[in-house]
Amino acid sequence: MKENKQNKEMFEKIFSTDEFHKRICGFDFEEAFDIWNQKPQVANRRLAGALKITENIDIIYDSDNVDDCVTCIKGILSNIEEDGFKQWYLENDDNIRNMLSPMMEYFCFHKIYRTETNTITLFVRKLLPRSIERYKNTYEMVLWKSDHSISAIMYIPLCIGETNETCLSSRSYVFVMVEADRRIDVLTHQNFTTTDVPTHCLVTSQEWLHTVLIKKITAWMEAASLSDHGLRKQQTLSQINIESYMQTYNRLKKKYGPYFVENWTESTDAQKFVYEDIALASYLIVLWSKEREERDLLKMQSFIDLGCGNGLLVHILSSEGHPGRGVDLARRKIWNMYGENTKLEVETILPDTTTVTEDWIIGNHSDELTPWIPVIASRSSFDTRYFVLPCCFHDFYNKFHHKDQKKSHYESYLEHILQIGRECLFEVAQDMLRIPSTKRICQIGTRRNSTYEQV
Ligand SMILES: C[S@@+](CC[C@H](N)C(=O)[O-])C[C@H]1O[C@@H](n2cnc3c(N)ncnc32)[C@H](O)[C@@H]1O
Repeated sequence: MKENKQNKEMFEKIFSTDEFHKRICGFDFEEAFDIWNQKPQVANRRLAGALKITENIDIIYDSDNVDDCVTCIKGILSNIEEDGFKQWYLENDDNIRNMLSPMMEYFCFHKIYRTETNTITLFVRKLLPRSIERYKNTYEMVLWKSDHSISAIMYIPLCIGETNETCLSSRSYVFVMVEADRRIDVLTHQNFTTTDVPTHCLVTSQEWLHTVLIKKITAWMEAASLSDHGLRKQQTLSQINIESYMQTYNRLKKKYGPYFVENWTESTDAQKFVYEDIALASYLIVLWSKEREERDLLKMQSFIDLGCGNGLLVHILSSEGHPGRGVDLARRKIWNMYGENTKLEVETILPDTTTVTEDWIIGNHSDELTPWIPVIASRSSFDTRYFVLPCCFHDFYNKFHHKDQKKSHYESYLEHILQIGRECLFEVAQDMLRIPSTKRICQIGTRRNSTYEQV
């Protein structure tokens, strides 16, 4: 155990785990904390369970201040309809901002949590006490952020009784795993041990974090790491030549990066979105170049980006010689910057009936359209190919429900989209992109397995 002497920090490290085995990675951290988030009773006997009272909500924050992020979190909290919670929220409006601002400032900007993306995910859970005579409902705001090298999760408890509402932000605790260090650091608020807590509040102690919870977490991570699931085996950039990719990426980065970061008119994080689209464009350009060689194609492949959002990917691919267009429900301010060679259209895609004439369909984080991408490709022509980067969990008409508890939600969703592609008779390859987003596994549907006559 390593003590931390930096007493002025808002959170102090109380201990670190021993070094993990090499195979442990961010997926295991997520899977272990999924158990603690959803079934805390398996670690804490005072609990009967937990209810998630919000969805997971992604919040993108500015790179220099957290005001919008705090406003966004307050918006989420204000929509919680639970009786005690609503009352607490209405009576403590200003205090909540004062409490959240420094916590967010710390979690978003402190050097130990610096991730490539300015995104945190928030949900609120209600901890259900086993003994309702002894304990009152305790809520926890759970915030997490991750990229390929770091995973961090923060718990902010809040105890609400009939007449006694206590926000226990000073009893907050954090787990951070830097993948290269192969250990988890556990931190608690600097006033953790000096804050008096009413006896009816269900909060953790430092000792319990150390002697019970972290042991469970590391055991769950170890078990997750042994499960032989596909994501772990997924190679990065396996479908293309990495050297060509790096050359293309560096060229496009210089050509488009600084200009679009500086002139970004959207409210989203310019760094993240610009460099992600540059990486995606590089990937597609190299993939398509390989395809031209393999199939002796003389013309550059055409494409349509369904749900193109800011349209930067369309702009880069078009500027690099691929004829194509992007379609989205809503126009974006930045579309005005691209010039007339970049074809962007406002249109609602009706997935039940749409067909396209382009060679490739792109579905990049295309939300509700994601499961439809292979279907639209299959309906369009025998030779239409697709590239899909699944993100939020949508099925054809509803949200995608995660049934196989042995797999993570993300892994089950990827399998579902892969299966749709195969049922549409595509050969589907899966690859891991090098992008800031945590959802970086794409699927590529190419030549179908049957002859034209059979389709
Ligand atoms: C998560 S955003 C991704 C945007 C962009 N591809 C990116 O990665 O930055 C999903 C986009 O899909 C668009 N979209 C969803 N359903 C659509 C539909 N039926 N027709 C057209 N666009 C749609 C939304 O308007 C939104 O811009």
